Amino acid sequence: MKIYNAIISRRTIRKFQQKPIKLSILKRIVNAGRLAPSAGNLQPLEYFIAVNDSLREKIFPNLRWAAYIAPEGNPKNNERPMAYIIILVNKEISFGSFFKYDVGASAENITLASLEEGIGCCWIGSFNRKKIENILKIPEQYSADLVLALGYSLENPEYYDIEKGKSIKYHKDTSGVLHLPKRKLDDIVHIDCF
Ligand SMILES: Cc1cc2nc3c(=O)[nH]c(=O)nc-3n(C[C@H](O)[C@H](O)[C@H](O)COP(=O)(O)O)c2cc1C
Repeated sequence: MKIYNAIISRRTIRKFQQKPIKLSILKRIVNAGRLAPSAGNLQPLEYFIAVNDSLREKIFPNLRWAAYIAPEGNPKNNERPMAYIIILVNKEISFGSFFKYDVGASAENITLASLEEGIGCCWIGSFNRKKIENILKIPEQYSADLVLALGYSLENPEYYDIEKGKSIKYHKDTSGVLHLPKRKLDDIVHIDCF
């Protein structure tokens, strides 16, 4: 798949096939995250891969899914993620707030590398940090910044362009397809003057 096509066809996935993801594939995906840009090349990020059944069961209740349509957007029991990649920040290495850009760049690399494997991904910023850090036994010097929920995709959300001022809240149609409103290119690009 061409990079541009991959980028524009990617959508957040919240329904997953119950098919295990090989550890070798997960490590390949994390490798793509590791090589993302890093402010000052400090590389404060580390990655926790959770695939074990009981660990995944403990993680799941601490995540918040698709707030605009909750609880309709929650994965059902037979649609839950088959792996999690938790992006950790080593607080002894990170400096100021630049690490947030590192996390975003790394997460997007992971998302796109997953897409190439047919694996869908949901970024989860809304989670119970303390509980997740306890469950994973994360040492004090790290903080869990972002959870990436992964699995072979079981849905095909679609985007559509919206007029200025229209709602950005996504919705599901009667057949359960998720529709993502996106602001139009011409409404957000300013060429040579605002
Ligand atoms: C920083 C960040 C945090 C997010 N946190 C959550 C979350 O906690 N739960 C969730 O279901 N989706 C979360 N998302 C996914 C967004 O809801 C999703 O990207 C947005 O609706 C646009 O859909 P798209 O990714 O398909 O274009 C997050 C996305 C980003 C970038």
